[in-house]
Amino acid sequence: MWRAGRTAMLGRMRTTAAVLWEPGGKWEVEEVELDGPQAGEVLVELTASGLCHSDEHMVTGDLPVAYPMVGGHEGAGRVTEIGPGVTEVAVGDPVVMTFLPSCGRCPYCARGWPSLCNDGAGATLGPQLDGTYRFHARGPGGHDTDVGQMCLLGTFARHTVVPVKSVVKIDEGFPLDLAALVGCGVTTGFGSAVRSADLRAGDSAVVIGVGGIGANAVQGARVAGCRYVVAVDPVEFKREQALTLGATHTAASIDEAWEVVSELTRGQLADAAILCTGVAEGADLQPALQLVGKHGRVVVTALGHAEEDTASLSLLELTLYEKQIRGALFGSSAAQHDVPRLLEMHNLGQLKLRELITKEYTLEQVNTGYEDMRAGRNIRGLIRY
Ligand SMILES: NC(=O)c1ccc[n+]([C@@H]2O[C@H](COP(=O)([O-])OP(=O)(O)OC[C@H]3O[C@@H](n4cnc5c(N)ncnc54)[C@H](O)[C@@H]3O)[C@@H](O)[C@H]2O)c1
Ligand SMILES: [Zn+2]
Ligand SMILES: [Zn+2]
Repeated sequence: MWRAGRTAMLGRMRTTAAVLWEPGGKWEVEEVELDGPQAGEVLVELTASGLCHSDEHMVTGDLPVAYPMVGGHEGAGRVTEIGPGVTEVAVGDPVVMTFLPSCGRCPYCARGWPSLCNDGAGATLGPQLDGTYRFHARGPGGHDTDVGQMCLLGTFARHTVVPVKSVVKIDEGFPLDLAALVGCGVTTGFGSAVRSADLRAGDSAVVIGVGGIGANAVQGARVAGCRYVVAVDPVEFKREQALTLGATHTAASIDEAWEVVSELTRGQLADAAILCTGVAEGADLQPALQLVGKHGRVVVTALGHAEEDTASLSLLELTLYEKQIRGALFGSSAAQHDVPRLLEMHNLGQLKLRELITKEYTLEQVNTGYEDMRAGRNIRGLIRY
């Protein structure tokens, strides 16, 4: 039963969203009810949402999340209502929704690590920061069921209510479809190269897996001034696209990349290898470690299997060559600082965004979008509302 009585009280509205009811299921595009914004929240009408691989992990069960969940964690749109106490944005403002909030006050934000903000800790558990739900749908048996929001966002919806800590106000006039990709993929990939891998002018880099995230790690490595950027992907189309985004060389496998990078650097090997494959596999760690030379960094941006806790690697190489393995969340980026800067870099012709979108879909076609991802057809698929 829809709770008509609460509708007026919480300013409920109806909208359409793609809901995943169980692991292994399909995205169900259905009419849902959405509460109005509570304290510290904003209602956003979406223009576009990117199709990131992390939502696919909800389907495969690799990422532990609560079900049911409205998917989607990179998007852009306009604020149409603000909740009590919101002063950072106003009705009508164009915003990017980022997959991690940053509060600015927790110990991690305070240390300059906003991608590790404590408010992001429960981002895949479903409810909003106050523990209550904004989306409600007709569950099995026709009951009114609370529905979670992927990364507190749920951008696979025409409208959503999100924490103001998860939005970045952007300049009026910037194309919102392109801005949507900066909510996760662009910033994560770029930051993985520039921040997490700490690439510098003249360095050599290998990006393993050049889909939505890796393509932006390639752009980051180019902007950082790397002399060699080797893009690794088994899919020829992805390798071709990587060359247009700044890769200097390509390889179809990590083994092939070792031959390329070893030859190019006269055996010194890469300064960093950034793992951006669809799923991080423990078995890829040692081959990735062998791609980097002395003081080389292996950056693990791809998400691994939830249950996997084994990876074999040479401890001797770690010690004797001072190699490092680093995890990277959101490319160690700071949304309020990096999102506007990346958009400006696009305006200056230094960062490609339009070229990342291989194909557009309607919300109703979200499952087709993910089939295309699995088949390796897209750098990034985009839902346009
Ligand atoms: N750490 C973070 O903050 C963060 C944020 C977003 C996404 N991710 C993760 O990053 C990963 C990539 O996401 P995406 O959206 O770019 O996915 P994607 O599917 O668009 O791209 C993955 C690419 O990896 C390639 N690939 C698969 N196996 C490979 C292998 N063995 N060697 C080389 N290439 C291989 C695929 O062909 C594909 O092009 C996912 O695991 C995603 O969950 C992490
Ligand atoms: Zn993502
Ligand atoms: Zn914080």
